Amino acid sequence: MFAGRRVVLGVSGGIAAYKAVILCRLMIDAGAHVIPVMTAAAQRFVGRATFDALASERVLTSIFGENDPIPHTTLGQTADVIVVAPATARVIGSYAAGISDGLLTAALLATRAPVVVCPAMHTEMWEHDAVQHNIEVLRGRGVHMVVPEAGRLAGGDIGTGRLAEPATIFAAVGEVLAGLPERDPADGPPPPQRDFAGVSVTVTAGGTREAIDPVRFIGNRSSGKQGYAIATAARDRGADVTLITSAPLSPPEGVREVRVESAAEMEAATGAHADADVIVMAAAVADFRPVDVAPQKIKKGNSGERAQAPVIELEHTNDILAGLGARKPPGQVLVGFAAETADVLDNAAQKLSRKNLDVMVANDVSADGAGFAYDTNIVTILLADGSTRPLPICSKREVADAVLDTVAELRGGAHR
Ligand code: CTP
Repeated sequence: MFAGRRVVLGVSGGIAAYKAVILCRLMIDAGAHVIPVMTAAAQRFVGRATFDALASERVLTSIFGENDPIPHTTLGQTADVIVVAPATARVIGSYAAGISDGLLTAALLATRAPVVVCPAMHTEMWEHDAVQHNIEVLRGRGVHMVVPEAGRLAGGDIGTGRLAEPATIFAAVGEVLAGLPERDPADGPPPPQRDFAGVSVTVTAGGTREAIDPVRFIGNRSSGKQGYAIATAARDRGADVTLITSAPLSPPEGVREVRVESAAEMEAATGAHADADVIVMAAAVADFRPVDVAPQKIKKGNSGERAQAPVIELEHTNDILAGLGARKPPGQVLVGFAAETADVLDNAAQKLSRKNLDVMVANDVSADGAGFAYDTNIVTILLADGSTRPLPICSKREVADAVLDTVAELRGGAHR
């Protein structure tokens, strides 16, 4: 019943939130892919780290600030079932009234999947007309209820309102899933496994900026999206991710972000995280920088007279990836990206061997649908043994998962 099913587990604030941990574990053990969503209040009762460690994906808490610009609709559309345990009077009230006041209620309103609500609250609240009315409204809409049990409540009171036992909720969710049609393989690949659990991954992203003076810099067209997609995919697959970035994007939740600007800063930050099990250099690092950075803004000239245009002398930056390759510890998998506009595979293969890499992702940035501004990419994955894996045009997330599949194979670990 649970195998391969996507379960969104909504946890709202209540002393019973700890029971959701046990429920999560039961569903994971039964083969479900569990995505936890916690309200702010829930995090006062159970640390998100607990769910991060147990569930199939890191905890989601907010509609904003994630890599996915519309996490509530993604959750709602892809869930096989949404379970809310414990469900507070507030969440039940918002859901019944159609008010989206956070990620959980937004996902509840954005889904056509069956929903299982497991209320938990004090007896007086549970018996209040308003709460009972909301329960009836939801029941009338086909929402499944796992009603609270009688017993000891927070503060030592005895009465009805205690969250049903995890085993009871598990059985109820199982029944709902049993009534669903089989998952159609045409719906896409099964949800990712946590094949990077316990693996440290350092990812670099974005184009570096090399200062000319306090207001000007030499930059490049990298958007950072491919690097962010890799960081997000690695996080979803259970990795401990450090993202070293110069891109103006919000970091994916649950990823350690290190902000840098120049190639030199990126080199220092990467050096500090160079002992990771996997390093993916997706950043577009400047190859040249001005020899001197003017301390003041370079003026165009006085009183309308144009001064001679400055000549900016450049020097090489260090090749960060080559440095990492030269001192690569045993067992580490080092991945580079080659942005090419001509002789793509030859150039990428040369860079792979010159920089002592395990994997090189060759990216024809001049092709239609590939490269900087696009949400899609066309890449070929090259391995140190000379083999190549061309991918069709696909999303940057799909490229990220394909690269991680290759890394997982090289590490010899479980591969989804
Ligand atoms: N790279 C790096 N440090 C640099 C330049 C590049 O670590 N100073 C890394 C990039 O992050 C990428 C890989 O090297 O993973 C290849 O980058 P690319 O720009 O394609 O190649 P370059 O080595 O810079 O060679 P060229 O610009 O001549 O193509």
